[in-house]
Amino acid sequence: MTINIFEALRNDHEVQRELLAKLINTHGDSPERRKLFEKLKKEVTDHPKAEERYFYSPLIEHDQTIDKARHSVAEHHELDELIDQLDEMEFSNTAWLTVAKQLSEKLEHHLSEEEHEIFQVAGKVLSSSEKALLAQEYNTEMHHLEGDSGDLKQAH
Ligand SMILES: [Fe+2]
Ligand SMILES: [Fe+2]
Repeated sequence: MTINIFEALRNDHEVQRELLAKLINTHGDSPERRKLFEKLKKEVTDHPKAEERYFYSPLIEHDQTIDKARHSVAEHHELDELIDQLDEMEFSNTAWLTVAKQLSEKLEHHLSEEEHEIFQVAGKVLSSSEKALLAQEYNTEMHHLEGDSGDLKQAH
């Protein structure tokens, strides 16, 4: 069964939501917090990369979607900054969770804006075959990026 780009992106949004929900329930410098943060960091790095290439770059070609596409790409940078901020803090820092909750709010805002506003307009400018092809390309890119991290883990 072929899926479209919206389903492919939504699947990975759910992965991020689950990780975040668990992450903001962790306490102090714990193995759970470290593990969940590493996973979330990877998702919040890989997903936007593949999404910009196989969703936003075609949307930038259309007048109806260019502004929304640019807005989302700017939000990807804001999310990156919050991830960097968490990365630089000690896991035991009491402010860690405060920043993690800021990330949670910003990320949820971003994902639901994509799902509720951008997917609708994008649905009108992309053809059915483009939607299917982009899903394939997006998923291939995600597997490729995940494969890279697998190699990295084996090297350690
Ligand atoms: Fe995004
Ligand atoms: Fe997304």
